[in-house]
Amino acid sequence: MAQLWGGRFTKETDQMVYDFNASISFDKRLWKQDIQGSIAHVMMLEKQEILSKAESNEIVNGLTQIQEEIESGLMKISHEYEDIHSFMEAKLIERIGETGKKLHTGRSRNDQVALDMRLYTREEIGQIDELLKEMLEVLLQLMKEHIATYMPGFTHLQKAQPITLAHHFGAYFEMFKRDRLRMKDIFKRMNYCPLGAGALAGTTYPLDREYTAQLLGFEGATRNSMDSVSDRDYLIELLSAMSTVMMHLSRFSEEVILWNSNEYQFIEIDDAYSTGSSIVPQKKNPDIAELVRGKTGRVYGALMALLTTMKGIPLAYNKDMQEDKEMVFDAIDTTKTCLSLFTKMLQTMKFKEKQMEDSARNGFTNATDAADYLVKHGVPFREAHSIVGRLVLLCIEKQIALDDMSLEEFQAVSPVFQADIYEVISMKNCVDLRNTVGAPGRAAMEQAILEAETYLKSEKVRFKN
Ligand code: ARG
Repeated sequence: MAQLWGGRFTKETDQMVYDFNASISFDKRLWKQDIQGSIAHVMMLEKQEILSKAESNEIVNGLTQIQEEIESGLMKISHEYEDIHSFMEAKLIERIGETGKKLHTGRSRNDQVALDMRLYTREEIGQIDELLKEMLEVLLQLMKEHIATYMPGFTHLQKAQPITLAHHFGAYFEMFKRDRLRMKDIFKRMNYCPLGAGALAGTTYPLDREYTAQLLGFEGATRNSMDSVSDRDYLIELLSAMSTVMMHLSRFSEEVILWNSNEYQFIEIDDAYSTGSSIVPQKKNPDIAELVRGKTGRVYGALMALLTTMKGIPLAYNKDMQEDKEMVFDAIDTTKTCLSLFTKMLQTMKFKEKQMEDSARNGFTNATDAADYLVKHGVPFREAHSIVGRLVLLCIEKQIALDDMSLEEFQAVSPVFQADIYEVISMKNCVDLRNTVGAPGRAAMEQAILEAETYLKSEKVRFKN
């Protein structure tokens, strides 16, 4: 047990209490940010003549050495300290003696932890964004390759109208693009420095908060010291945005699982991204997709947990807030792993184009086009709908597709049908003539691909920090 606040106490903390209170087992992850923040703090203290140049140099050197030793594995972060902040300060004092005790001047662990967590999260947002961008690049590539891969489009999981695989992927492109926009937005809102807020009410030392903020690459200093130490909104926003990413991945996973099933057989998952069954030899299981779908629950759970933790906390810092870390760390790790694995699985997946097209053909996905044909020849839509309904019934009885009916059979139901009906309800025409903005037709899809390309080129820059 090693702690920073022994002065006021006459008894040792109970071991179980100590363990319950300690956070080092998980906040050791913030060790780099802790050093980074301390160095900036000390440089500011020197600039403000609160510390001398010699003192600040000594502290910065000490911290830099500690960083090198942790990096090289020479120094282990031992759990006998309460949290990463206590560990660092103790190690610094061990190393440089008395001057080390000046590091914490004008600072509290409350603003320190608020800073460390922001520095960490800021970096992670950039990485999530990068992974989202990789996903978009793979999707764009697949869109280009499958502009003429016909497949059924579904509503209520029933074959509705034919689309293309490019169009299907285009839908996911939009979803993950919005996810990126959310990341960018959260980054912009959270990129302010809480250091200097002290425990809750600032400090009497003449700190230059804007200078520290600038050293750490923030937009500026946070505006209210109580809010600075107790704001966890940005984590809640991030958890919410990550939940949305996971929701998108989970929907996509569900489709991969369906498409991989014996009934659909639309895809083949690469051996490297699927697993076998220990008892059923012929099976190739979509475990990755199932796990991604499953892990979505953890990320939603973290969002609910932090919202609930925060809801009853009076201003300003309360220890409840220490609970933010494990769930945010876990949710970030989970989202990143899922994004990265899913992208790789997608990239190596084989698409069985013939099965997809056959499936679209066998599902009367061109029935709407047959009805539209009648409408274009003057039949009111409601009547056309009913005529084609009767035709479909006939086809079901005969177990054939609309395209397989003879012209006589068409005309027996409605004399309006002429020989050009076959052309109109061909898969190619059904899809390629749908060229309203956002539709699957070739021209509309080419436009969508162009826009996607332009967007990816313009969004090359990583967030600056
Ligand atoms: N381990 C704490 C946390 O994660 C650091 C802040 C502690 N502050 C305090 N006054 N006990 O929230």
